[in-house]
Amino acid sequence: MLVPNFNPFPVLETKRLVLRRPVMADVDEMFIYRSDKMLMQYIPHRLATQKQQVVEMLRFINNLIDKNEGINWAITLKGNDIIIGMVGYVHFFTDDYRAEIGYMLHTPYHGKGIIHEAMKAAMDYGFNVLKLHSIEAIVNCENVPSKKVLERIGFSKDAFFKDYLFHDGKFIDANVYSFVKSE
Ligand SMILES: CC(C)(COP(=O)(O)OP(=O)(O)OC[C@H]1O[C@@H](n2cnc3c(N)ncnc32)[C@H](O)[C@@H]1OP(=O)(O)O)[C@@H](O)C(=O)NCCC(=O)NCCS
Repeated sequence: MLVPNFNPFPVLETKRLVLRRPVMADVDEMFIYRSDKMLMQYIPHRLATQKQQVVEMLRFINNLIDKNEGINWAITLKGNDIIIGMVGYVHFFTDDYRAEIGYMLHTPYHGKGIIHEAMKAAMDYGFNVLKLHSIEAIVNCENVPSKKVLERIGFSKDAFFKDYLFHDGKFIDANVYSFVKSE
């Protein structure tokens, strides 16, 4: 069985990015993108309308890290500690050495391959340190940018589920993508 351990918190570095632990000081920046209707349209979570909701989310995220039950990294550009997005493993299936990856990026930074770079680092950590065997991503079928990101990294589209997610009062079709280590 997989036994994740996030203590000490694994800070990851790439060519352009530092992935660090999300902290309470990130509330204001996170609120900007968590309350952005366009950006959140494919994320099956409630749109933030008050900063307090983001405070609670940060508590939840940090609690999962403390309990080794989930990990999210704040994405920052090297030389600027401001959070511009997040990537992380939101669910672990420890018996199966599998985890679900999630990611999002503040709109001004889209189209620069930043999520690709952040996901590669999170995946290297997942396979080489956590010892995952496979990683999955659940995507709203209409989320074309996210599908492009996954396909470019080498994920394969494994499944289509009708009405898989319930978001904003309606059921949504989803694709499940996965990346298996031996690939
Ligand atoms: C999905 C997401 C993370 C992609 O991040 P990114 O760093 O912009 O990704 P890339 O730079 O690799 O771009 C991927 C492709 O999507 C396109 N794209 C990026 N942002 C876009 C946008 N806002 N609208 C339309 N297309 C967009 C890019 O042009 C690129 O396509 P191309 O190579 O054909 O030009 C980002 O759009 C996002 O945060 N979306 C909202 C949250 C979300 O959907 N998360 C995933 C849940 S499964």
